[in-house]
Amino acid sequence: MSHSSRLKYVSLGVLVVQTTSLVLTMRYSRTLKEHGPRYLASSAVVSAEVLKVLTCILLVFRESRFSVQAMKELLKEEIVNKPLETIKLAIPAGIYTLQNNLLYVALSNLDGATYQVTYQLKILTTTLFSVLMLGKKLSFHQWLSLSFLMVGVTLVQLPQDPQAEQKVLSAGSQFVGLIAVLTACVSSGFAGVYFEKILKETKQSVWVRNIQLGVFGFIFALAGMIIYDGEQVQESGIFQGYNTLTCIVVVLQALGGLIIAVVIKYADNILKGFATSMSIIASAVISYFLLEDFNPTGAFFSGAVLVIVATFLYSYQCKPATVSIIKIET
Ligand code: C5P
Repeated sequence: MSHSSRLKYVSLGVLVVQTTSLVLTMRYSRTLKEHGPRYLASSAVVSAEVLKVLTCILLVFRESRFSVQAMKELLKEEIVNKPLETIKLAIPAGIYTLQNNLLYVALSNLDGATYQVTYQLKILTTTLFSVLMLGKKLSFHQWLSLSFLMVGVTLVQLPQDPQAEQKVLSAGSQFVGLIAVLTACVSSGFAGVYFEKILKETKQSVWVRNIQLGVFGFIFALAGMIIYDGEQVQESGIFQGYNTLTCIVVVLQALGGLIIAVVIKYADNILKGFATSMSIIASAVISYFLLEDFNPTGAFFSGAVLVIVATFLYSYQCKPATVSIIKIET
């Protein structure tokens, strides 16, 4: 197996683990009953961006063979001296910041199952943008596998006792959550494919690209925090309500950004969708064995089988059938 295809499968595997842990801890951290104020979601987004940029700078330092001088020159050459290239990243950064905040709104207003089923629509928005923006051509088998995937994840996520969910969540809150998650589906598809286009049509290192993305992400996230939670921040500070769990969520979110960048570079956004679907099965299995709060139904089993079959069907056809026509800008 070549170096890049090994990276492709390793990064997809790591993404499954990261997504599973993030969903479980994020949901837990937003619903846990605590004394004192809960942490501000907008502040967690800012912290994750800072952590991501710092990690990317370390990775560029490593790429520069641990020479501070070489790293400074590289960053100056690629980021400061190419303002037009840098500014291009402001678009996905702005969209991702909105999306990261929307997902907190969604997870605070919807039950985990509805959130995850609805968010799977991003598989379709991503495919649509890949076809439109990258000229990606999918074979019949791949389209078929995508529909298996959609049906599969829906079956896996069907609530076991729908009435129990309704007791907890009001209709108004469900509506807000649903709008948030649907908007996130469109933004996820567009921003992911836009970033893939930039990564694959230029030669810059994925870490340099991530620094560009992260710096804008930080600026937007900071603005979001000041606009929405400015007063609370003035009263009790940026890190109010932070605890160990909050730090874990922040680290997992920052780590997610890094893994996703590698997945987009070595695989693509559509395969990334398959990895996140696998993570849904993984979180259900964890709930069953560790948390003992989940009883798999027939629908869950058939859905899980469909997701796995769809993944193999898609990858089997992947090499001969997927052709990316990326226009190189002159
Ligand atoms: O749900 P979706 O797969 O679109 O989520 C992508 C996530 O990855 C977002 O939280 C975004 O901020 C993050 N990301 C990142 N760096 C990248 C690409 C995505 O932090 N290069």
